[in-house]
Amino acid sequence: MLTSTLFIYISCIILGLFIALFSSKRKRELQKQNSPSAQNTKETPIQLDKLIIGLGNPGQSYENMRHNVGKLFISYTANKFKAQLKKINQGYLAILNEDTDQPKIGLFNTYCYMNISGKSISEVIKKHQVKVENIIVVHDDLDNAFGKVKIKEGGSAEGHNGLKSIIEYLDTKEFLRLKIGIDRPNSRDPVVISPYVLGNFSSEQLNRLNSEIFEKGIEILKSKNFIQS
Ligand SMILES: *[C@@H]1O[C@H](CO)[C@@H](O)[C@H](O)[C@H]1NC(C)=O
Ligand SMILES: *[C@@H]1O[C@H](CO)[C@@H](O)[C@H](O)[C@H]1NC(C)=O
Repeated sequence: MLTSTLFIYISCIILGLFIALFSSKRKRELQKQNSPSAQNTKETPIQLDKLIIGLGNPGQSYENMRHNVGKLFISYTANKFKAQLKKINQGYLAILNEDTDQPKIGLFNTYCYMNISGKSISEVIKKHQVKVENIIVVHDDLDNAFGKVKIKEGGSAEGHNGLKSIIEYLDTKEFLRLKIGIDRPNSRDPVVISPYVLGNFSSEQLNRLNSEIFEKGIEILKSKNFIQS
């Protein structure tokens, strides 16, 4: 009699311990699920069908430079389609059609020096599972008149530090480029070329970029199915 009472008594204590342990574990799990940091780390990166990449240098003083025209184009395009460029580890990314059934288009600006852009670009491509044939790199083009916009498939870096880095990191030259003409000073000497590409657009040129030239770029991207019409 005494032993069975003792047995029931001990069993109750053990059962009580189990219930307490289980409910505190459950509570911790619920807390974890609701905390924003846990949500971020668990979230798998969205798979992108296309990725449009702008080249440039980081920092305010570089913002309106000729060499930054790719980044300016991406900012313009994100703004036009009301998509927000959000900070990610590799730079800034906006996603078009994020909450729809349409193909998902990434607009990406690097946030590192031009000459190492390939590193962050290769990381973003891997993270968002984009095929190299579905990327296009937007950059400044010395060999065309200011405002001329052209698409080009593959080819060498043509002395462009950003393209050089991308070719190195992706280990291929076979990717599309959207080239925006910035004119060439009357020289091939780096001593002349370098300050020219690192020089600012005039305010009149910035106006033209934002009123007509970037629109031409968007039309070309639509014709190549990078952006839906
Ligand atoms: C270009 O403009 C920025 C301001 O947007 C300024 O800080 C910078 O010094 C200018 N660069 C040159 C080379 O004039
Ligand atoms: C890249 O460019 C920056 C700024 O011009 C320079 O300080 C750096 O040494 C360059 N890095 C490489 C790997 O060329």
